[in-house]
Amino acid sequence: MNDIMSFGVHRLWKKYYADLIIDKFRNNQKILDIASGTGDIFNLLPFSENLYAIDPIDHMHKISMKKNKKKKINYEIGYVENLPYKKNFFQVVSCTYGVRNFQDRIKGFREIYRCVKKNGYFFFMEFGIPKATLIQKPYEYFLDYFLPFSGSIVAKDRHSYKYLADSIKEFPNTHQIQKELEKIGFSHIETIDFISGANSIYILQKK
Ligand SMILES: C[S@@+](CC[C@H](N)C(=O)[O-])C[C@H]1O[C@@H](n2cnc3c(N)ncnc32)[C@H](O)[C@@H]1O
Repeated sequence: MNDIMSFGVHRLWKKYYADLIIDKFRNNQKILDIASGTGDIFNLLPFSENLYAIDPIDHMHKISMKKNKKKKINYEIGYVENLPYKKNFFQVVSCTYGVRNFQDRIKGFREIYRCVKKNGYFFFMEFGIPKATLIQKPYEYFLDYFLPFSGSIVAKDRHSYKYLADSIKEFPNTHQIQKELEKIGFSHIETIDFISGANSIYILQKK
């Protein structure tokens, strides 16, 4: 889905994102990847232990295990809304293209805040609607028509791609997301927009 959605560019964004994490991470500190999917992020990080991955779908973990054979990853099947970890446990919590899928985003953010250490970081990356009005209309056209159409051809699954398009359109803008996170207690460090916010990286800290 991410490949169709971004014409494969999400791989470059993930590399950029992983480099940002490497910058803030020290050896022997614990890192959690939420909605870890098939393990792309741990595959891009040069660390081989103190890695934790949580996703509700066991099959995702199975693919990640094959991809990250040489890494010691602690896998959990579970949801962000009820994280099975102690408070102040992780130096870094990460989530790529998962926040849009949270059943209860505020509850998920609260759980993440609980599990991050003081001075630790929460990184996440998510699709959104571009801020530049000039490209908003063509982009919405791309979401409404091109995405479900290409999903029906490539994956024979129009419905899932329609859901993807709708969830991107319903996702709050970067300003609203920042307000939600600050209300919970996070300090906003930086938001990095690609294609005017069609994809954004958010960096938060628990101070
Ligand atoms: C688009 S995939 C992203 C996977 C991976 N992070 C990546 O960047 O390739 C979204 C993932 O979110 C997971 N997910 C859905 N609802 C969730 C929830 N409430 N808590 C945690 N993960 C969830 C799904 O199982 C799926 O693996």
